[in-house]
Amino acid sequence: MSRIAYVNGRYVPHRDAMVHIEDRGYQYADAVYEVCEVSQGRLVDSTRHFDRLERSLNELRIRQPMSRGALMTVVLQTVARNRVRNGIVYVQVSRGVAPRDHFLPPPTLPPAVVVTARAVDKAAGERSARKGIGVITVPDNRWGRPDIKSVQLLPNTLAKQAAREAGASEAWFVDATGNVTEGGSSNAWIVTHDGRLVTRQADRSILRGVTRTGVLDLVKRRNLTIEERAFSVEEARGAAEAFITSATNPVTPVVRIDGHPVGDGTPGPVSLALRAAFHEVTEMSRPAIHGIK
Ligand code: PDD
Repeated sequence: MSRIAYVNGRYVPHRDAMVHIEDRGYQYADAVYEVCEVSQGRLVDSTRHFDRLERSLNELRIRQPMSRGALMTVVLQTVARNRVRNGIVYVQVSRGVAPRDHFLPPPTLPPAVVVTARAVDKAAGERSARKGIGVITVPDNRWGRPDIKSVQLLPNTLAKQAAREAGASEAWFVDATGNVTEGGSSNAWIVTHDGRLVTRQADRSILRGVTRTGVLDLVKRRNLTIEERAFSVEEARGAAEAFITSATNPVTPVVRIDGHPVGDGTPGPVSLALRAAFHEVTEMSRPAIHGIK
């Protein structure tokens, strides 16, 4: 089956899906995005993803491209047209197409919208969660607003590539004081030896992950102790467990940090239990494809 993308008002074959060379996203990374999990043909936590998209747009003074209801329709249509049952949907909104100029174009410029969807191999995600992944640590060299989900991801891609070349799967950014901020495309967590969950406070230094918020809901529901605070690389290395969260693979245990084992070097029980229970607390949309149960 051929893939379909939504580009500025039209559904087009993926191979023909193009944006203009003067799209501000292409020239200035002047664009924001969202990645939402699709599970059993439904969007997972779409309200929180749409809320965050609106916030990112507002922070950068990019116009909302369409109403939330209209965007929901486009997103569900894109999932349905690609017959994605389990996977992800990607939404990108750029400031629009304008002659190259560092100054912002007039606010009347229509934003450019791209939506794609693809299936993700759930079994591969399960396998990696059962084995656990390695992370490396790298200096956080990103701009000062990673709380905005902008497409300015070059430091993230380089960090993740360095991780891959070191035999790991994710890179953890570390701030000037030696504390972990977050992963290249995930939030970072540890579990202390007395069972407390620790994840960095969601200030301007990290993206407030939708999965992070979902896991916080779960942790509260289970009466586990949570501390939203900074933690150092040293503390993480000595922790009982560590894991990462993101829409692409909800809770993934981390078993090695810079080559050093975390805990006994295998996925910990708290991480695995949170992974198994994650979808208990998530909001599920109506099905994208009519009739999917
Ligand atoms: N990334 N931090 C960063 C830097 C991220 O890029 C992501 C997600 C997260 C986790 O956010 P959420 O739980 O809302 O997915 C944290 C997506 C998946 C991506 O860029 O593909």
